[in-house]
Amino acid sequence: MKKTKTLFFCQNCGQQSPKWLGRCPACGEWNRFVEEEVREADERRPEAVRFDGVPQSIDAIEGDEGERIHTGIAEMDRVLGGGIVSGSAILVGGDPGIGKSTLLLQILEKLAERGLTVLYVSGEESARQIKLRGRRLAASSASLMVLIEVELDNILARIQEIQPAVAVIDSIQTVYSPALSSTAGSVGQVREASGRLILFSKKTGIPIFLVGHVTKDGSIAGPKVLEHMVDTVLYFEGDSGHAYRVIRGIKNRFGPTHEIGVFEMRDNGLAEVANPSAFFLSERPDGAAGSVVVPSMEGTRPILIEIQALVSSTSFGMPRRTAIGVDHNRVSLLTAVLDKIGGIHLGNCDVFLNVAGGVKVEEPAIDLGIVSALASSFLNRPVMAGTVVFGEVGLAGEIRGISQTEIRIREAGRMGFVRCILPRTLSKEVLPETGMELIRIGSLRELTEYLF
Ligand code: TYD
Ligand code: MG
Repeated sequence: MKKTKTLFFCQNCGQQSPKWLGRCPACGEWNRFVEEEVREADERRPEAVRFDGVPQSIDAIEGDEGERIHTGIAEMDRVLGGGIVSGSAILVGGDPGIGKSTLLLQILEKLAERGLTVLYVSGEESARQIKLRGRRLAASSASLMVLIEVELDNILARIQEIQPAVAVIDSIQTVYSPALSSTAGSVGQVREASGRLILFSKKTGIPIFLVGHVTKDGSIAGPKVLEHMVDTVLYFEGDSGHAYRVIRGIKNRFGPTHEIGVFEMRDNGLAEVANPSAFFLSERPDGAAGSVVVPSMEGTRPILIEIQALVSSTSFGMPRRTAIGVDHNRVSLLTAVLDKIGGIHLGNCDVFLNVAGGVKVEEPAIDLGIVSALASSFLNRPVMAGTVVFGEVGLAGEIRGISQTEIRIREAGRMGFVRCILPRTLSKEVLPETGMELIRIGSLRELTEYLF
């Protein structure tokens, strides 16, 4: 019998080691090494997925990316950069229960309604369960094929046989190759399965969606390596307490990244939210202190979000700084700047900050929104009606310019806002004529003068 060779793999990032390690030197995770069998190189790739590579002149290669397949769901097409590119592998990650299966089944149904044959491979649910879900989504097209299968070679054989326009593998963690001894969902299995599916997709031109569950720390369970292998990585996010869901492009070889699509989870599946600003502001309290609206950019798209702050005096010696939806360190930093330069003394106050609707924002343009909300709550004065603010705040209390000012201002104007406080460094010439009152400030010291 041939001796089998084993290595230890980090189940988080795929790092390998000849011996067991407590802490992964690559990603820093503890206790994630698992022993897995590795095969000799000559057994790596079965014939079925081998490229018959022949060198050719770059000049002779067909240059256009081919027809994109439109999903028929505008929010999804935007995130994909205009539709599904043939031969592309798209990873859709997200927490369990967030709605990945629902979204993909809806996409397939849309395609099937146009007469395209599509294949949904599930290793997680029974055909009956999928049928029941399909009934809620009104998915009943004859050309939407469902396959319950976990074995990799069978899946590949079926896709080859049916030749669907698009195939979905739900989920990659359930796919299993008996050629490896490790269990389904382990790094070795996920890497093998996705590697072969991606190669297959490149060779046949059939686009494949891979569904991947995400671990608590936000990485796709099992290997981060998966993100490098696929062409496009989309994350499906949301809060189980809220109906809205955001699909976010993290990587895209065929289009812009950081685009988002917004959906609302209803009884009959996911509905597109065409006007996210209105959606996120719909429950905003009137004239409440501590609430500020910021035009934030999500990809190429401006979205108005509401930042809420609550400042209260500390009842224990240590003031608390709690932030939901924005970076915690950023809030501590801005609190200190506001204290030192803005003259709002928060040293003995607990600070709570929240982005309404469960949204997460990362860009520096919301800095001014955060300090405005804090000042408003501390002084217990509501921000003047119809006002939006944006700008980065530096450590010296200076307000710094940011990009894409024009679209932000236009979006605020479109949503009925009439005043905008923004960085002075933005010259008047770049600001659009919208009829809005544009107030340019250079330092935090000036903020309270215009805020109320
Ligand atoms: P699902 O697509 O199974 O999530 P995932 O594949 O990411 O694990 O979504 C399941 C959740 O969505 C579940 O809590 C029920 C809810 N849901 C609706 O609210 N409306 C619907 O029409 C459907 C099909 C599901
Ligand atoms: Mg699912």
